[in-house]
Amino acid sequence: MKCTAVVLAAGKGSRMNSSIQKQFMELDGYPLLYYALRVFERSRVDDIILVAGENETTYCRTQIVDKYQFQKVSKIIPGGSERYLSVYEGLCAIQDTDIVLIHDGARPFVTDEIIERTIQAAATYGSGIAAMPAKDTVRIADENQFSVQTPSRAHVWMMQTPQAFIYKNIRQAYDKILALQLSNITDDAMVMELAFHKPVKIVEGSYSNLKVTTPEDMRIAEAFVAGMNGDAGA
Ligand code: CTP
Ligand code: MG
Repeated sequence: MKCTAVVLAAGKGSRMNSSIQKQFMELDGYPLLYYALRVFERSRVDDIILVAGENETTYCRTQIVDKYQFQKVSKIIPGGSERYLSVYEGLCAIQDTDIVLIHDGARPFVTDEIIERTIQAAATYGSGIAAMPAKDTVRIADENQFSVQTPSRAHVWMMQTPQAFIYKNIRQAYDKILALQLSNITDDAMVMELAFHKPVKIVEGSYSNLKVTTPEDMRIAEAFVAGMNGDAGA
C-alpha cells in the first residue's frame, strides 16, 4: 500500500502579520515547515509532494529540502491562490499512489501516531481525518451576530490535518468540485462530502497538533518546542 503526503506551504500567512511567511519563520533555529516535513520523512509514507508559493519553490529546495536532506520529498510544485487549489495541484502531481495524506505545513506537531491512525482509517473506511473534540461551546450566528443554533458540544469536533483518503477517490472528488466551481472550501473532508455525500471518518488528532495561524500560536509553538527539548521553565 503506497502512501503519499501532500504538504501545503503555499499560503500567504496573512493572519500572522509578519514580513516573513509563517511557514518560513524560525522556531527554535529551524523554519516552521521543517517540523512537519521531518515527521513525514521519518514516517511510513513513501514520498512527499511539497506545495510551495510560486516564487518560493527554489527557496524551499535549497533552504529546506536540500539543507535538511529530506529524501522523501519527490517534487516541489507551485500551489494556487486558495488552499483547495494548492491541494489540487498537489493531487495532480501524484503519478500513482494508494493513499494520500494532505497536511498543513503550518502544523508542526503532527506525530507518527496521528499519521498512522489516519492511514489505517483511510484503508478501512476510505478516509481518516485527524480532529479533536471542541473544548469550547460552539454557536452558529446569523449575519447580525445573533446566535441561531448551538450544536451539542459532544458532537462538535475541530478539524485538523493530516486528512487521509484513497487517492483515486479524493482526486475524483476534487475534479468534480472544481468543475462545479464551488468555493468556500476550507478542508479536504468537505470536498469529499460535497462531491459524494458520504460521511468521512474522524480519528483522534491531538490538542498539540495546532495550526500556527496568529502571533499567539507562534508563542504557543515556542513553548511546546521548549517543553520537548526538556528546557521548559529553565
Ligand atoms: N496554503 C496553501 N495554499 C494557499 C493557502 C494556504 O498551500 N493558497 C497552506 C498554508 O501554507 C498552510 C495551510 O494551507 O500550511 C493552512 O492554511 P492557513 O493556515 O490558512 O495558512 P495561510 O493561508 O498561509 O494563512 P492566512 O489564511 O492567515 O493567510
Ligand atoms: Mg488561509
